[in-house]
Order: sequence, then structure tokens, then C-alpha cells
Amino acid sequence: MNQQSIISIRELTKEYVMGTQKVRALRGVDFDIKKNEYVAIMGPSGSGKSTLMNIIGCLDTPTAGSYHLNGQDVSHLTDNDLAAVRNREIGFVFQTFNLLPRSDCLANVELPLIYAGIRSSERKKRALEVLDRVGLSDRVDHKPNELSGGQRQRVAIARALVNNPSILLADEPTGNLDSKTGEEIMRLFENLYDAGHTIIVVTHEKDVARHSRRIINLFDGMIESDTRVDEPVLAGNNNVAQPD
Ligand SMILES: Nc1ncnc2c1ncn2[C@@H]1O[C@H](COP(=O)(O)OP(=O)(O)O)[C@@H](O)[C@H]1O
Ligand SMILES: [Mg+2]
Repeated sequence: MNQQSIISIRELTKEYVMGTQKVRALRGVDFDIKKNEYVAIMGPSGSGKSTLMNIIGCLDTPTAGSYHLNGQDVSHLTDNDLAAVRNREIGFVFQTFNLLPRSDCLANVELPLIYAGIRSSERKKRALEVLDRVGLSDRVDHKPNELSGGQRQRVAIARALVNNPSILLADEPTGNLDSKTGEEIMRLFENLYDAGHTIIVVTHEKDVARHSRRIINLFDGMIESDTRVDEPVLAGNNNVAQPD
């Protein structure tokens, strides 16, 4: 295995059993992702994107093949061990934001730190830092329904980053946003990439994928192509400190 790889996946297979039928969602997938890569995973509906994302994110385990995350074999962990790795290594961003509606931005971002057992004063300090990084210093006491869609997604990104995870894993992060706001989120990803983060974006939108540096195309549970993006689209100017 390549020492520098954060992710090393070999002959990855996932089958779902549906009654008497087997669905082969992943059929032998191989790739490595190194630190500070910015990768888009693409493919048509049903090609296995979500299945692959669930395995990369330690939400599920493969039927066969191996997955090493930061050198640790996570292909056969128990649910509890998998959850521990997930909390430490992965920051999730979802299409639907998944914020707690009754909690303000600060409390939403602090949540992973509560699970991690960080004391209150340190939690607040770290949550405020990361909210500042996504340009939301002036919205920390707002609740999700008092924010625009783009601001909500930025809160979710702050929450994903607050544990300082190895990987930021985003599933259709702009799927619920208009194109201008989507561009704003891509700009934020660009900044995070420049700051050294490792980013994996699952998307079926070419416009989103073209911001990344590498595109892995899935088709029918296999890798159809894995190519470097020679001229990535750089999203607008990079000043994310601007509130909406
Ligand atoms: N929980 C599941 N049970 C059975 N089949 C599933 C399950 N999840 C996904 N599949 C099947 O696996 C294939 C890949 O699905 P998925 O990973 O969701 O693809 P994508 O995210 O690219 O649309 C599809 O044929 C889908 O119907
Ligand atoms: Mg999907």
C-alpha cells in the first residue's frame, strides 16, 4: 500500500441481498487518494456513488475487497469501531444540510465536539474559529430557519470541519442550492483545498465536478475512468469572509 495514501481501496465489492436477488452495486473498484487531493466521484444514477461514499465514510463495510483509511484496515470493523473511526476521520456534508432545527449555528457546530468529549469552553472556541473560517462569524446565534440555503450549507461545512477530520466527504453538496449559491459553496471548497484539506465530492453534475482536480467516473459499479482535471474551474474570487 502507498504510504502517503489517506485512502487505499482494492477490489472493492458490495452486494445487497434483496430477497432471493443479489444487487452488485460495486464490482471491483480500485483507487488511492492522497492527502490534499480534491476528487469528484461521478456517474449516472444507480452507478454505485452512494454505496461507495457510504463505504469511504465508514457508514458501511464492503462485501469483499479492502479499504485502508490512514493505514488502518477498516473493511471488517464492528459498528462501534467503525463509528469511532468515522467520528475521528470523516467530516460529512449532505445535500439536505442535516442541521438541528432548534439549535443555533454555534450549537450545531459544537455537536461533534460534544460526542468527542471536549469541554465546553474549548468547544465554543473551536466552533467559533471554524464558523469564522466559513464566513459566518456574524450569524453564530442564528437558527437554521433564519439563514439562507448557502449559509445553512456553510454551517454544515463548519460542523464537518470542527473535528479536524482527515477527509471532507460531500454528497451532492449543491443539490439543493441555486447555481449562484452553489458556486459560493464551490468557492469555499476551493479555499479549504488551498488550506490543505482533502476533499471528496460525490456528484452527478459536471459543473460541480469541474472544480475538482481529479474525476473518478463510475459506471455500473465499476470505474469507467479516473482522470486528472487539467484546467479546473476556479470558483469566483476566494473571499469567503463575505456574508450574504
Ligand atoms: N440498500 C440497498 N439495498 C438494495 N440495493 C441497493 C441498496 N442501495 C443501493 N442499491 C442498489 O445498488 C445500485 C447502486 O446504487 P447507489 O449506490 O445508490 O447508486 P448512485 O448513488 O450512483 O445512484 C443500484 O442498483 C441500487 O438500486
Ligand atoms: Mg446516490
